[in-house]
Amino acid sequence: MELYANDTKTHDEARQGEAFASNGPKKHFDKFFYVESYGCAMNFADSEVVASILETNGYGSTRNAEIADLILVNTCSVREKAEQTVRKRLTEFRKLKTAKPGLLVGILGCMAERLKSQLLEEEKLVDIVVGPDAYRTLPDLIAEAGTGQKAVNVILSRDETYGDIAPVRLDSNGISGFVSIMRGCNNMCSFCVVPFTRGRERSRDAFSIVAECRDLFEKGYKEITLLGQNVDSYYWNNPETNTSVTFAQLLESVAQIDISLRVRFSTSHPKDITDEVLFTMAKYYNICKYIHLPVQSGSTRILQLMNRTYTREWYLSKVARIKEIMPEASVSADIIAGFCTETEEDHQDTIRIMKEANYDYSYMYFYSERPGTLAAKRYEDDIPEEVKKRRLQEIVDVQWVLSNESNKKDVGKIFEVLIEGNSKKSTEDWMGRNSQNKVIVFPKGMHDFKKGDYVNVLVTDFTKGTLLGTVSNK
Ligand code: SAM
Ligand code: SF4
Ligand code: F3S
Repeated sequence: MELYANDTKTHDEARQGEAFASNGPKKHFDKFFYVESYGCAMNFADSEVVASILETNGYGSTRNAEIADLILVNTCSVREKAEQTVRKRLTEFRKLKTAKPGLLVGILGCMAERLKSQLLEEEKLVDIVVGPDAYRTLPDLIAEAGTGQKAVNVILSRDETYGDIAPVRLDSNGISGFVSIMRGCNNMCSFCVVPFTRGRERSRDAFSIVAECRDLFEKGYKEITLLGQNVDSYYWNNPETNTSVTFAQLLESVAQIDISLRVRFSTSHPKDITDEVLFTMAKYYNICKYIHLPVQSGSTRILQLMNRTYTREWYLSKVARIKEIMPEASVSADIIAGFCTETEEDHQDTIRIMKEANYDYSYMYFYSERPGTLAAKRYEDDIPEEVKKRRLQEIVDVQWVLSNESNKKDVGKIFEVLIEGNSKKSTEDWMGRNSQNKVIVFPKGMHDFKKGDYVNVLVTDFTKGTLLGTVSNK
């Protein structure tokens, strides 16, 4: 395995260089951890909490697994393929252990929670297993594993939010940051493993959220994404005053930090997004006009089996309400092809709802049965894989046409773009996003812009998934 073929530094140089990876005051570390994250943004945000816990306990972060004393893989269980990818990685990391006997390998996140001690005891792939609510115990578990004991903690909590921990930003562009506002999920969609791996829903102290966002802004960040599996059901009760904070109120408090700080959020469940949230979005210029509103299926019968608690008509009325309150808003979705018992007619309902909702973008998957979920217990996974894949491809094709049309409509418009960095293809071009979350690439030209600046860009053309433009003087 060529883990880091491009890394020309010697191990000592790399260690030295990586010693200052933290965003806090410079520190020196004797021990290093390497963390690799999979799955949703919440997992990436959790790795930053883990980094903070480890730094406090004497571990600096390194991006080179070969020099690490501790390798952690923060994992996802949402689809079988996600778990297969992780198993492959763990097998590769186990080989590093042969060359470096003291090296410890740990598994974090949803797969750790789902499989408990299986990867440690039966498969012997890891030394440490830590579920999403047990990261505070990681230093003790490392110590236990160091003496050859079994180090497992997968206890889920009803109140852990890591609200008091200041995350150490890993791989950040210094412009966009994620802030977790809640954990867990109470929804029990029948296909979904998340309620089992993340436990009951709980909301984080609103003051600590606003303080973290303000701190990021003071450090130069220009965009915050508030994260949760179901952000619209955020509800925090202040025990001191016995008053509550809703998601709309939280959104407003974050938007008020500064007009130049963009605010985004993810993910919304259609049943929970309220008019109060939509009006708050419309009221604040800096709350981005983009809503990710997973539909999963366009068939009411399938939605019922999925336990999504809405019908196709109800969902479409929600999309209409979004467009009524914010005509400029973009909407994206998650879609699952080939759920249990799905007929061609159900599938066509999904195709139709995509066109009716006119999604700017979608994340599309075929159904993957997850052990322990309601669907796995109640329904047969009866759609053959080739049918699932064919339906998924049809869904992808429809989305491609919709995205293309949406991009075509943007040609000739001027958008305010937040510069995130160089474009992937050329250092001569900047890459950024508009409020609607579309990526826009434009030439740097003679202008003196830098990362984190807002620039008005006239859209002149587009390629697959990207708008192209030039700096506008208007
Ligand atoms: N909480 C969010 C919501 O309710 O929309 C998203 C959570 S999930 C991590 C992200 C997406 O993965 C889901 O919206 C769904 O489309 C997809 N997903 C979840 N379980 C799946 C499964 N068993 N097979 C295929 N896709 C799945
Ligand atoms: Fe899973 Fe549904 Fe919860 Fe989203 S809302 S995390 S899909 S159970
Ligand atoms: Fe995956 Fe867990 Fe997120 S299952 S999608 S990492 S909550």
